[in-house]
Amino acid sequence: ASSARAQAAAFAFEPISISTDFDVHVPQGYQWQPLVKWGQALFSEAEGAYSPETGVPVAMSDKVFGENTDGMETFEDEGHVLLAINSEYVNPETNLPAASEGVPQNADEVMLLKNMQGVTVLEIANDDNGWQVVLDSPYNRRITHETQMTMDGPAAGSDLVKTNADPEGMSPKGTMNNCGSGKTLWGTYLTCEENFNGYFGATGEFEETDGFVRYGIGGESRYAYEKYDERYDLSKEPNEPHRHGWVTEIDPTDPESTPVKHTALGRFKHENAEMVQATDGRIVVYMGDDERGEFMYRYVSNGTWSEGQPTDGLMSDGTLYAARFNEDLTGEWLPLTPETTGMTIEEVLVFSRLAASAAGATSMDRPEWIAANPLRVEAYCALTNNSKRGGEAMPVNGPNPRETNEYGQILRWRPANEDHGADTFTWDLYVMAGNPEVYDNTYGGSDNVTSGNMFNSPDGMAFSSDGMLWIQTDGDDSNEGDFAGMGNNQMLVGNPETGEIARFLTAPNGAEVTGLTWSPDRKVAFVGIQHPGGSWPDGEGKPRSSVIAVWREDGATIG
Ligand code: FEO
Ligand code: CA
Ligand code: CA
Ligand code: CA
Repeated sequence: ASSARAQAAAFAFEPISISTDFDVHVPQGYQWQPLVKWGQALFSEAEGAYSPETGVPVAMSDKVFGENTDGMETFEDEGHVLLAINSEYVNPETNLPAASEGVPQNADEVMLLKNMQGVTVLEIANDDNGWQVVLDSPYNRRITHETQMTMDGPAAGSDLVKTNADPEGMSPKGTMNNCGSGKTLWGTYLTCEENFNGYFGATGEFEETDGFVRYGIGGESRYAYEKYDERYDLSKEPNEPHRHGWVTEIDPTDPESTPVKHTALGRFKHENAEMVQATDGRIVVYMGDDERGEFMYRYVSNGTWSEGQPTDGLMSDGTLYAARFNEDLTGEWLPLTPETTGMTIEEVLVFSRLAASAAGATSMDRPEWIAANPLRVEAYCALTNNSKRGGEAMPVNGPNPRETNEYGQILRWRPANEDHGADTFTWDLYVMAGNPEVYDNTYGGSDNVTSGNMFNSPDGMAFSSDGMLWIQTDGDDSNEGDFAGMGNNQMLVGNPETGEIARFLTAPNGAEVTGLTWSPDRKVAFVGIQHPGGSWPDGEGKPRSSVIAVWREDGATIG
């Protein structure tokens, strides 16, 4: 009880207990309601298109909110409040007719799945009923697997990204598996392409290159796109996968703008993109590659920026680095260049994993979101879990110290000289998740994990303006065995100074919590609930991934 009181004293809310039901729970004195649900109309022509039994018809599928909400950011433009929101992937069984048994049976069904993923830009407004989607706002926009894009940076136009459909290698179509997000200092959206490999298959022979193997390309395709669209067929367009796995920039304030894939930031299974600034004004972007044993990355621009200055070249002219962690709690950013890797710069960027291996980067336990503290020069990365850690193939190391790591940890680093542009840093583990009821060794977690706040698989993270670290989980919600007492996936708040962590929100069973942003006045948090179970939130029909609004009943700020 004394530790619960201490937590209550340290946080603005009374921490909540676990849940195992199909609902969302928030602390006493807080409320929540859905803001936008899978299938909800963005335009009046799509009103009523969603059916609780059958979902969304293909004809309206690019005029509604997509499925499986993920990273998101808030923007303001001339008094309008906008959200840009990722739809990471689709559950085919949820979207397709039952007769299709989860596999698209024709080109229309493929198009439906393509349209339910990607990015949504929408306007929201606050009225007597809270924040609502502005139907038919000129800002409302869907960006899908079909949207025309451009590329910039050293790999744009290279032979590695040329296809039959785009012999110049400058005009890719679509952004896919949009996982985490980022916001540039100049107010545009960064959407991060994660498990793009799963969208490609083959109807004939293709060459299994080192690049394909390292990125998992050439396995079973997830949605059978290649049967209906040559772009996804490795035997027809072997370079198409090289055009995905990038950080893509979108201007949410201009619905006519063309998204840009930034090859200078490297190609891997991007989680999010956390932009900060070096002391000298250069742009720094921290990025994780979510795969067991892969790396953490940093991009540093050559040019500098300040408010009101042009942004040309900031995301296309710079250096990509991968992180090395030493056992003595120091570390360094290793530049990935032709000199350090023996690869051309085009190869370094298209096959960044191979380049980082050549440079000697440290293998990590699935780097998910990275969040930078706005109040001091430090950053955090959620290392979600790693069933393959341990043994000779992937030995334990300093920041990844546990074999068969099923709980995950959050790594923290502080750049030298309090400068995100510095090439060295010190590091520690902010928290090792674990179960102190089951284990009394390192699997019980670090000292700041208790029976009252335990969780597994930290994933989404964001700092609020008051310097608190909000932690979202995507883990085992069986509430059994090694996970007994953890309940459903959740969102917690961590105090970076004291290490204390308190549970703020619990999700419906089956869901992960991912994506967090705030209203401009910081009175409302927008939280993503992905792949819920049951019939959440409608209470009938199909489950609907949704963004919810959470606020304090007394109207105080919460972020
Ligand atoms: Fe899409 Fe690594 O989470
Ligand atoms: Ca994630
Ligand atoms: Ca995850
Ligand atoms: Ca997910």
